[in-house]
Order: sequence, then structure tokens, then C-alpha cells
Amino acid sequence: MKLCRRARLTVIAVMAMTIAPLSAQAPTPRVLFVYDEVNDQTKPYIAHFREAFTSSGIPFDEAAAVDLESKDLSRYEVLVLHGIVQAFNSKSPIRDWLKTKPPIAGKRVYLFVTANRWFLDNLFKDLNGLLEKNGAKPVDAVSMATKETDDSLEKTAVKSFVGKVR
Ligand SMILES: Cc1cc2nc3c(=O)[nH]c(=O)nc-3n(C[C@H](O)[C@H](O)[C@H](O)COP(=O)(O)O)c2cc1C
Repeated sequence: MKLCRRARLTVIAVMAMTIAPLSAQAPTPRVLFVYDEVNDQTKPYIAHFREAFTSSGIPFDEAAAVDLESKDLSRYEVLVLHGIVQAFNSKSPIRDWLKTKPPIAGKRVYLFVTANRWFLDNLFKDLNGLLEKNGAKPVDAVSMATKETDDSLEKTAVKSFVGKVR
């Protein structure tokens, strides 16, 4: 079928208008959500993060810190970390992983740290410092003492934090 010149120009203009906005959209960064481990205290947060990623339309993978060896980190541009204070800050699987100097330089990191009450600042500083040493200083970091927070407030805090992930 032959098109006259004007019709061809119209087709090209319509294609340009359709394709240009699509190509201008930034690709969705690949997000890896990392938590310390699965236990009774982390389970509600893992659920909050999953729900927040899903409701924000952010595709993500997830892993406990001890399972990160089997993950190809080069696949992810964004890391979202949730660390909890355990045993007076003597135990932190995420801190142990960061001490192994994983290849995370240049990644966008979002750090969320919680403690019921004690040693929150210690873990927060430990994780921030190790991230910076590994070339991945967090673009956003939140520490939250949970002694007086309830599930609904914690869920809202996670949702608001995930809302900043780019
Ligand atoms: C084994 C274990 C040890 C913990 N030790 C501490 C601690 O030393 N200091 C503290 O403030 N919270 C401690 N916590 C509480 C967690 O940090 C807290 O449960 C977590 O940050 C989530 O907060 P939430 O359960 O109050 O919502 C511990 C939790 C576990 C499971």
C-alpha cells in the first residue's frame, strides 16, 4: 500500500509522539531488600517492606544477610537494608556481611535500623561507617527506637521510607 507524502509524515509524527515519552522514562532500578535474618522480631518488618514495595510498584528481590553470598550483587543498583539491634549490638548479620567488603561501591543504599531501645546509635553508626568504607554511603538512613511504637506506626514508617527509594 502506497501512502502519500502527507500521510507518511502523519504516521512518522504519531510514532514519534508515542515512542518519545516511553524512551524518556528512566528504567526501573533493580532493588535488593536485605534483612538480618528471619525471626519473630524481623518478620513483621519483612512483611511491611514487602507490602510497601508492592504498593509503591517497586519490583524487588530479597535476601537474609547470610544468603547474600549466593546473590549476584551486580544485578542490583539499589540496596534497601533493614538492620535490627540484637544482644546489645554484639550480633548483626548485616554488619558481618559488610565486613566481608562486598562489591557494593556506587550502589544507592537506603538504610533502616531499629532497636527496641538500647544500642540503636551504635548499630546505626557501625552500618553507616561500613557502608561508607565500602563506597556505598547511604542516600537515606533512618534509625527508629521502637519501645513506644505500635505495629501500625512501624508499618507507616516503613512505607514512608520505601516511598523515597529511587
Ligand atoms: C535476639 C534479640 C536480641 C535483641 N537485643 C536487643 C538489644 O540489645 N537492644 C534493643 O534495644 N533491642 C533488642 N532487640 C529488639 C530488636 O532490636 C527489635 O525487636 C527490632 O529492632 C524490631 O523492633 P520491634 O520488635 O520493637 O518493632 C533484640 C531482638 C532480638 C530478636
